[in-house]
Amino acid sequence: MGWVATPELVAASCNAGAMGFLATATVPPDEVDRAIARVGELTDRPFGVNFLMEAPGAEKTVEAIVRRRVKAASYGRGPRKDFIQRMKDAGVLCIPTVGAPRHAEKAAALGADVIVIQGSEGGGHTGSTPTTLLLPQVLDRVRVPVVAAGGFYDGRGLAAALAWGADGVAMGTRFLLTAESPVPAETLARYFAASVDEIRITTEVDGLPQRVIVNDLVRRLESGSAPARLLRALRSALAYRRLTGASARELLRSAVALQQGEKLTRTQVLMAANAPILIRRAMVEGAADEGVLPSGQVAGLLHDRPPVKELIEHIVAEASERLATLAKPGGPPCT
Ligand SMILES: Cc1cc2nc3c(=O)[nH]c(=O)nc-3n(C[C@H](O)[C@H](O)[C@H](O)COP(=O)(O)O)c2cc1C
Repeated sequence: MGWVATPELVAASCNAGAMGFLATATVPPDEVDRAIARVGELTDRPFGVNFLMEAPGAEKTVEAIVRRRVKAASYGRGPRKDFIQRMKDAGVLCIPTVGAPRHAEKAAALGADVIVIQGSEGGGHTGSTPTTLLLPQVLDRVRVPVVAAGGFYDGRGLAAALAWGADGVAMGTRFLLTAESPVPAETLARYFAASVDEIRITTEVDGLPQRVIVNDLVRRLESGSAPARLLRALRSALAYRRLTGASARELLRSAVALQQGEKLTRTQVLMAANAPILIRRAMVEGAADEGVLPSGQVAGLLHDRPPVKELIEHIVAEASERLATLAKPGGPPCT
């Protein structure tokens, strides 16, 4: 989770027995190596790194992952064969996230070791098929282990996913709302106040479907004129250039890769920088109504901020209890 999955949150999750993924799509490429090293200082457990293969400087992230012997790499749209091969040759597990069955097949063909499926109820960029319908379709089509994401927050969900045939679950929003989350209190309050219905998919942030809490900014983006959109996109592109230190040429190359790899329209490519920049406004600067709040619908059910260790222990205990009940002779009691 960009701006959220910091070394501290990742390490806390790993120390508690989960596999945390460091967000680097929002870290300048020259600082990724340092961020990975920081996770290594905080935990001796395996962890992963999430990045965007089309972003300027992505090759530096790949080299840092390999050099630092990171256990796993996570990526989504625009997978690059050469990057995947480089990481696999170095023994890095390749774990893409997909939102559609055909993307799962493509990911498997490109060498994925594990596939995370994210159903439409999940936070951030997301597809249109709910987890309950996406998971069985992908399980039927690929032979690698599959991890289910989108809508999970407790042990009941974990037990259900395992019963379905998944090998585990991944959670984003639940970990955003933990004691170790770096998100400012003003922004967290907005997550706690959101109802399930207020968390919906919009394409007006960066042209791609993204599940967010609908706030003043999203309403403005959705009703904005074409010139206002263009102005915002240009402002974001400039801010993104400052953030990444990328040259105009690198940005252009990345834009072309995005357009060709993902078959995006020119407008979508132009808007691409909106997401990291507008998310930063809420997640780092605490301006909950002026920034974008990516969120799974599950936030509508969450009202506490437990320490990661307590959360994971609870999830595991609850899932074990559910599974034990189901396995009892005669099955679960029918009430
Ligand atoms: C605030 C936020 C930021 C996210 N950023 C990223 C990202 O940078 N890269 C990525 O692959 N997924 C990202 N995601 C998706 C999560 O990794 C995860 O797949 C998703 O949250 C699962 O659904 P859930 O929110 O219902 O748990 C983000 C999700 C949230 C809520």
